[in-house]
Amino acid sequence: MALPAERMTDQDAPRLDVGAVLDAHDRRSFMRFLTCGSVDDGKSTLIGRLLYDTKLIFEDQLAALERDSKKHGTNGEEIDFALLVDGLEAEREQGITIDVAYRFFSTPKRKFIVADTPGHEQYTRNMATGASTADLAIVLVDARHGIMRQTRRHAFIASLLGIRHLVLAVNKIDLVGWSQQRFRQIEEEFRAIAAGLGFRSYMAIPLSARFGDNVTTRSANMGWYNGPTLLAHLETVEVGNEALDLPFRFPVQYVNRPNLDFRGFAGTIASGRVAVGDPLVVAKSGQPAAVARIIGPDGERRAAREGEAVTIVLDREVELARGNMLAAPTARPKVADRLSARLVWFDDQPMSVGRAYVLRTETDQCGATVTALHHRVDVNDYSEQPAERLAMNEIGLAELSTQFPVAFDAFADNRATGTFILIDRLTNRTVAAGMLVDAARGADNIHWQALEVDKAARAELKGQRPAVYWFTGLSGSGKSTIANLLEKRLHAAGRHTYLLDGDNVRHGLNRDLGFSETDRAENIRRVGEVSKLMADAGLIVLVSFISPYRAERDAVRASLAEGEFVEVFVDTPVEECARRDPKGLYAKVRAGELKDFTGIDAPYEAPLKPDIHLRTVGRTPEEIVEALMERIAGSPVADSFGDGGGI
Ligand code: ADX
Repeated sequence: MALPAERMTDQDAPRLDVGAVLDAHDRRSFMRFLTCGSVDDGKSTLIGRLLYDTKLIFEDQLAALERDSKKHGTNGEEIDFALLVDGLEAEREQGITIDVAYRFFSTPKRKFIVADTPGHEQYTRNMATGASTADLAIVLVDARHGIMRQTRRHAFIASLLGIRHLVLAVNKIDLVGWSQQRFRQIEEEFRAIAAGLGFRSYMAIPLSARFGDNVTTRSANMGWYNGPTLLAHLETVEVGNEALDLPFRFPVQYVNRPNLDFRGFAGTIASGRVAVGDPLVVAKSGQPAAVARIIGPDGERRAAREGEAVTIVLDREVELARGNMLAAPTARPKVADRLSARLVWFDDQPMSVGRAYVLRTETDQCGATVTALHHRVDVNDYSEQPAERLAMNEIGLAELSTQFPVAFDAFADNRATGTFILIDRLTNRTVAAGMLVDAARGADNIHWQALEVDKAARAELKGQRPAVYWFTGLSGSGKSTIANLLEKRLHAAGRHTYLLDGDNVRHGLNRDLGFSETDRAENIRRVGEVSKLMADAGLIVLVSFISPYRAERDAVRASLAEGEFVEVFVDTPVEECARRDPKGLYAKVRAGELKDFTGIDAPYEAPLKPDIHLRTVGRTPEEIVEALMERIAGSPVADSFGDGGGI
């Protein structure tokens, strides 16, 4: 499966596990397509018509349908085909489709899986989910309205997601008097759009889903149309199975080790074939090995191919776990921690450069930051516009940096190993689908230099354990005062320390940054990197930055060793900060001279589970630091912290 949909949150997950159904059949005999269109274009009616006409509706389903049509239908006593597909009661009541629904039908010539994706503007996410495995896309338009902005977007996303065959269903042709002229007009506009998007085949078909004209049977009302019906086209278009002919890729889902004598790697073959004896490599390390055994659901196998779930046993011990891949040694995937990728943005919170997200591929997952946005695509004319953000439904080319190297292929080379999703660290929502273009320019030539004097050696010489004490809180909360006092105490106790302070670092390293959301995120990213280097140098680092966003603080935590990052929440209510106002800034805010001030008209996301919670009201900095020193008591410094108690 191209998009790692099976691990999306409940909200995102398709209602049916297509993979499981497919495993039960021969995957390759299926043609997978999706339908997309605006809310009223008649998608559901069209799919309902296909299902009905291909006689795959079971009798009992039919009876239920007739009952429901009377209850909810918009077509009087006739069967409302849309009800066949709009499965959820809630959807019916709203009159829109809100999820991806997979349907199966077959004819003597072919078996079909159709992903019915919602047409409502904000549901691009579901379209991307449905599109990720599809061979062909049917884009619907209402003959009365013709090509809309949505139509262009859908065609573009279909192309972006690697769908190579496109059909424009010009629906409701009955409502324009079966007009040949109107159809030609729409068809011409459609051809101009499709021609630039790299489809192998595209075709426009005039039809009436409601009355069945040109869906499965030829229309008697459009003598002027010589092309195939929709079903005839679906049955005959050559889609092939490219994934089978691609180099072998096996993303490891888990290591199967029931006892000491057996160690197998379980997963689903993403592309290509494999046979016992084949030489392979571990993608991330390049370690070679050969296939000793292949075990399928029915036991020992000689060979296996794309789409099959198997366990592979290698002829020697290698270091390999979930998130890594086995691959053909002659055509290895790329491994990089700087990537360029096309993003389709789903979330109503726009993507902004500098924000930290979680990147998830088929089996891998790590922190990732969008480091640059090269352009945004204008879906009206597909031109590339400079941009700093991607709003919902927008598409752009971005550069990302990941916390660890990931193994991948360019999406143009392999749909299965060339996609990822981005997840918001806080809401856990899938915010984007990504199509990998390449390792970011230059990244190929930057390698980790192995250094012989390492962190442990440096720390040992200093007789301490490195740590990063991260003081977060509002401006004027007392972060710097406390951090400063603490450093004095640690220093006096013979510790090797360094204090990174927001105001100071903003005079030098971060001189170019202001207080926009993007700049603050970048501010924290850089300071996170610097504190990581300092910890690597063996130091005890004190960091005093407002650092208002949880996502960025969590990203720093994730980049450091377990237990090394100690989040200290300097908890002072904003009224108290404004009363103390050590730098006169709250006065300026009141006078209207300072905008976007944290805690006033810019957000502060307090830590949910700080390692140390300092309530400052009614206590002197000395008292607080005394208590802090007791927590840190003894050496090595970072050892003694428990689970986030208050001081
Ligand atoms: S952060 O939000 O990006 O983490 P940082 O800690 O570097 O902020 O800098 C905060 C300091 O900048 C404040 O203590 C204050 O002196 C100053 N400052 C100037 N403008 C603002 C603003 N709009 N919001 C918050 N602090 C500001």
